[in-house]
Amino acid sequence: DWTTKDYIDHAVEEIRKTVGKSRVILGLSGGVDSSVAAALIHKAIGKQLTCVFVDNGLLRKGEREAVEKLYGDHFHIDLRVVDASKLFLRRLKGVEEPEQKRKIIGNTFVNVFEKSLKTIGHAKFLAQGTLYPDVIESVAIGNNPAALIKSHHNVGGLPERMKLKLLEPLRELFKDEVRAVGAELGLPREVVWRQPFPGPGLGVRVLGEITKAKLDVLKEADAILMEEMKTTEWYWKVWQSFCVFLPVKSVGVIGDERNYSWVIAVRVVESIDAMTADWTRLPYDLLQRISNRITNEVRDVSRVVLDISSKPPATIEWE
Ligand code: XMP
Repeated sequence: DWTTKDYIDHAVEEIRKTVGKSRVILGLSGGVDSSVAAALIHKAIGKQLTCVFVDNGLLRKGEREAVEKLYGDHFHIDLRVVDASKLFLRRLKGVEEPEQKRKIIGNTFVNVFEKSLKTIGHAKFLAQGTLYPDVIESVAIGNNPAALIKSHHNVGGLPERMKLKLLEPLRELFKDEVRAVGAELGLPREVVWRQPFPGPGLGVRVLGEITKAKLDVLKEADAILMEEMKTTEWYWKVWQSFCVFLPVKSVGVIGDERNYSWVIAVRVVESIDAMTADWTRLPYDLLQRISNRITNEVRDVSRVVLDISSKPPATIEWE
């Protein structure tokens, strides 16, 4: 598609002109926007771009490895992976309230990101995958915290503190245009058409207090759901599909043994813009396979339930 190619050529020129010989830092989340921004900037300035990926311990199973493989091995981007999972878990210990959890995760992210910058050579620019709708939203809504919901990778007051200039090469694009640019740059379907994933990650999908053990159970269950959604191609048809760890124990039976263990909720929704959503009517045989596999393959799960709530009044996430 020639318009996308033209756009890329133009953007590459602009980035080179703006950046000169300086270093650019980008916080890579693995989501569509930061991924496309990274690929585009990398095309323009190569090794002058350093990407930082923070492993907060709240990622889906295999997420970090996938990022390392794609950006490090395939694109040869200068990628720094910071394993901060222990720090996040320590700070989240004993915290049950969802907004409190979000705040801790967001603040810790900024702390870790800022600290990682000190190990990278002097940078002049901080790149972000800001899109046109984000630009409008932040102008229109100003300081409304709701507008900041998705902003945890838009690292607060950090650019000023670190004396970094913002580089936002996608700020004139809508989501579909960003996907086209990503595809043209060779990003795989897994990235270009990735489902949205909240900044606080599994932190808001383990209800109440987060522990390593609960996270491990959720990751295994969620990986099974993900695999079934992808092999049946349902993954690409829905808005989001994920598991939620319910801190509730229920009785089950394994052989002749009573098994008293956790409950996993399956949430699959359709939506246009996340403002409203409806639960997806997945085929019964698929639901059966998901449920059977989770109860059979994941230790400490005795029961799987399906969330059949629409938004509103429910939200997509459980916290
Ligand atoms: P809700 O649960 O409000 O979610 O219906 C709407 C969309 O936003 C995502 N979401 C978040 N994204 N940080 C994020 O970056 C958050 O704290 C957060 N909470 C919800 C959610 O996954 C859905 O796509």
